[in-house]
Amino acid sequence: MAHLEIETGQPSPDVAADGVWLHCIECSEEVAPFADIVYRCPSCQGLLEVRYAELPGWSAFDGRGVWRYRDALPVDDGVSIQEGDTPLYHAPELAREVGVSTLAVKHEGMNPTGSFKDRGMTVGVAVARRLGVERLACASTGNTSAALAAYGARDGMPVLVLLPAGKVAAGKLAQAALHGARILEVDGNFDTCLDLVSELAERGEVYLLNSLNPYRLEGQKTIGLEMLEAFRERYGAIPDRVVLPVGNAGNTSALHKAFRELVAAGAIGPDDVPKLTGVQAAGAAPLVEAIEDGADSITRWNEVETIATAIRIGNPVNAPKAIPAIRETGGTAIAVEDEEITDAQRSLAERGIGVEPASAASLAGLRALREQGVVDASERVVCLTTGHLLKDPDAAAAAGVDPEPVSATTADVLELLAE
Ligand code: F0G
Repeated sequence: MAHLEIETGQPSPDVAADGVWLHCIECSEEVAPFADIVYRCPSCQGLLEVRYAELPGWSAFDGRGVWRYRDALPVDDGVSIQEGDTPLYHAPELAREVGVSTLAVKHEGMNPTGSFKDRGMTVGVAVARRLGVERLACASTGNTSAALAAYGARDGMPVLVLLPAGKVAAGKLAQAALHGARILEVDGNFDTCLDLVSELAERGEVYLLNSLNPYRLEGQKTIGLEMLEAFRERYGAIPDRVVLPVGNAGNTSALHKAFRELVAAGAIGPDDVPKLTGVQAAGAAPLVEAIEDGADSITRWNEVETIATAIRIGNPVNAPKAIPAIRETGGTAIAVEDEEITDAQRSLAERGIGVEPASAASLAGLRALREQGVVDASERVVCLTTGHLLKDPDAAAAAGVDPEPVSATTADVLELLAE
């Protein structure tokens, strides 16, 4: 697992600020942080990641939520709505049903705006403030826009969001609207929205807070830190596998970075790293295709469709980070049908865990991989559920039981109950 290591040490003195710099994952160019606004490597257009002169171990972490991990983040504090510190639910019945030794559910839907995006925004908006930008923007399948709208509002910064018309779940759209973002509904899918907003960012019109932004992914990295801390506390071990839904593949990349940094800090051994296992909807599965084909890059899907609108994405921008993340941890990727996603959403809901369809893809993928024998019965697994049930009330209502009309008399209610 040679690539699990991450280099520390100082780059050229003129590049690092406070022991932090940007590193190109393709050509290793070092880029100064907090100076010019850059999203990609100025030399080769490769993806950037944040690097640190020193990496903290477990004992450095103090406090609660995302900012408990401030020593592992590029800035010391941010625009906070008390994000992070999400529950890790013990799920023994689901573990038995799926056929694994331990199953825990890390429910990121319990963040302030109902998805993991809050972790990225608390850091990303803080960096935006430090850079002195005037307008924040993102393309979104919904959750990123809801989170950015809220964090922008909290910080008093204008927010522009580009959404695929007719393909954003009601709860997410309502959040962006009420938090006062300017909402452009684009006649195209998420990937087209990202193309457009990236161009606006290149022209200096907006500051881009999609997961192409390496600072945002640092916030999301705290999912991995928090998950391993909580799992260790509860089960006395590191999980063997983490299963998560994949859209733009930012989370897959961010979790990998969390694990690599823990290895570099000596906090976990290189053989302890959980196998990162990505799940896509069958109607939007370019990353699964790349993993199955043994390819180093994805081929963009122009037509995408799934009930899990959050991951209705055909051109995962973080694939160059996520493909090595999956391979180097010994993980895999799998596509699941919409019916399997809805079944998994019901199974979680029956145990009191309310998630949106994309989140349930994690459990659906785990089930399928266990049935195929790819996941072993002895494994300790964490499923990451990324968004709250109320994000997509229409999908929840369609998957749930139907209300029964009754007249307003006790006799009629009793009669109905007796049936
Ligand atoms: N789950 C949910 C609920 C999401 O909203 C997203 C992404 C993902 C999973 C996939 O995460 O992109 O890091 O692989 N939603 C983005 C958005 C694209 O615009 O809200 P990823």
